[in-house]
Amino acid sequence: MRGNGSDRLSRVALIGTGLVGSSYAFALMNQGIANELIMIDLNQEKAQGDVIDLNHGKAFTANPTLIKFGTYQDCTNVDLVVICAGANQKPGETRLDLVEKNLKIFKEIVGEVMASGFDGIFLVATNPVDILTYATWKFSGLPKERVIGSGTILDTARFRYLLGDYFNVAPKNVHAYIIGEHGDSELPVYSSAYIGTIPIMKFIERHEKYKKEDLDDIFIRVRDAAYEIIKSKGATYYGIAMGLVRITKAIFSNENSILTVSAHVDGLYGQDNVYIGVPAVINRNGIRELMELDLNEEEKEKFANSANVLKKILAPHFD
Ligand code: 2OP
Repeated sequence: MRGNGSDRLSRVALIGTGLVGSSYAFALMNQGIANELIMIDLNQEKAQGDVIDLNHGKAFTANPTLIKFGTYQDCTNVDLVVICAGANQKPGETRLDLVEKNLKIFKEIVGEVMASGFDGIFLVATNPVDILTYATWKFSGLPKERVIGSGTILDTARFRYLLGDYFNVAPKNVHAYIIGEHGDSELPVYSSAYIGTIPIMKFIERHEKYKKEDLDDIFIRVRDAAYEIIKSKGATYYGIAMGLVRITKAIFSNENSILTVSAHVDGLYGQDNVYIGVPAVINRNGIRELMELDLNEEEKEKFANSANVLKKILAPHFD
């Protein structure tokens, strides 16, 4: 494995080489994070074309990744299976509208992967991601620590970018999370948001030009970002692909990084048995632990509402 001095290999199987999947492959290769990437798609010709195209870039990367075309049987020895397959949102559709179609697809995909003897970590990106991550956990029978969804990693990145832009501070120095459903019921956690180490509300009080009301607009732009992008170019893919690579790196480099992913919450935040976006510590074993934020009353209520939205969708499909 790269990044932590160990000789262990880091092998990924990517299922679904559409816009999100192939952008993930491109970003993964450019960052030189994995030793091996196996590309799997129902449309084998498309996956094969991607493999050839990506391999042509090998001479330009510092840590070339071995990129191969494969089938589900090749998941036997991989460490990480990333699922980007499934239907995606059309203009006017919500993420939750995709549930029936994509649950069917996932039952088959996860069944095939497990039949190969796979015993690694699943990373799910397909929407509705919280529901499909729960489904992957159920269908696979793997421990919850080894089934991760991209959750609100992208929403948090969008939030940090917009806050950084507003306060004229680098996004990496903005510490703020979006939690809850990766979708319309998500929420910003302003009660634990910081510019550097200064609480965001204090930062606003200190500078007259900043207004609390502007934060509401920033959150709405975050929440509705995907709708705006889908309206303009039909799909979102670069941002989510880079978020998936960020999680992949945290896993393979055994980073113990805190990222907002879709994780199984059972006991924290007053919730039970739901996959939902929360900050979690990610390392080589998957999710090491969840961080429970001190939410204020309004945030608690919004988080509970978001969890209920997801539970209502899960209920008819799972016991
Ligand atoms: C996104 O937020 C559509 O979930 C996708 O970009």
